[in-house]
This record gives sequence, structure tokens and C-alpha cells, in this order.
Amino acid sequence: MIVFGFACAIPTESAPPAETAVTAEAPSSPTDTAADGCAGAPQVTWNSFGAGFILESCQGCHATTAPERYGAPEGVVFDTVEHCWDQADRILARAAGVSPTMPPQGGTTEDDRTLLTWWLTCATPGT
Ligand code: HEC
Repeated sequence: MIVFGFACAIPTESAPPAETAVTAEAPSSPTDTAADGCAGAPQVTWNSFGAGFILESCQGCHATTAPERYGAPEGVVFDTVEHCWDQADRILARAAGVSPTMPPQGGTTEDDRTLLTWWLTCATPGT
């Protein structure tokens, strides 16, 4: 019997992430008919999600009190809910979606990234 043993996935470092797949990431809820993806989305806020997520995933480098910032820019701090909303666009750009670039070492779950998107896209700004 011939075994094709060379079908293993070889990481293709140069291959760009499939940006076109992003649209398939939209939360699918039966009531979600709006193009903006917020209709039918659960209410996600700083108190219910953001504070814990930012503390765990970002403040190690992006808190004013971080003893070692590992090169995180001084102006990019997420100590408070206000800081996060002020930089919501950048947080979403770097930490949400299918191929996040923050934290640099990765490690966030897809569920958390969906919650992050719902929070900073759908919640009342500042909450
Ligand atoms: C291990 C340290 C570390 C952690 C943890 C970390 N970052 Fe960063 N962050 C950096 C460094 C270093 C830079 C500067 C280099 C760069 O932009 O890639 C940076 C830059 C940024 C910037 C500014 C650049 C831009 O694109 O606007 C944003 C926004 C950001 N990080 C968001 C986040 C978010 C959100 C999290 C949590 C989900 C996070 N980071 C977690 C180290 C970290």
C-alpha cells in the first residue's frame, strides 16, 4: 500500500493572511440581519468583558505601571475604559479579527476576539 506521507502542512511564512475570510467571521445570530454585525449581538462592555480581557492580554505591556513594557510605546496605555475607547480603532486593528498582531506572542481566543469586536464596535462608547 502506498502512503502519501508528504501531505503535512508546511508553514508558508510568506503567504499573506486570507483577508477575504474576515467577512465570514461576523457573528452569526438568527436575528442578525444588519450589515453592521451589531444587531442581535450580546451587550458587551468594559465591566462585563473589556476590563478582564485588557488586564490579562494587554496591560502586561500597555499599563502605565507595567514594570517592563517590552517595547510598547509610552503613549499606548490601556489603564482605563477611556484609554481603550480613545484608541478603539487601533485596538480593533491590532487585536481583533482572524490574524491579530497584538499581543505580539498571540494567545487570545477567537471567542475573546469576537467579544472584543462586539464591545468596541457595538457598545455605547465609553462603557
Ligand atoms: C508583550 C508585550 C505586549 C502585549 C502583551 C501587548 N502589546 Fe501592544 N505593543 C507592544 C509593542 C512592543 C508595540 C510596538 C510595536 C508594534 O506596534 O508592533 C505595541 C504597540 C501596540 C499598539 C500601537 C500601534 C498601533 O498599531 O496603533 C496598539 C494599539 C497595541 N499595541 C495594542 C495592544 C492590545 C490591544 C493588546 C492586548 C490585546 C496588546 N497590544 C498587547 C507590546 C505588547
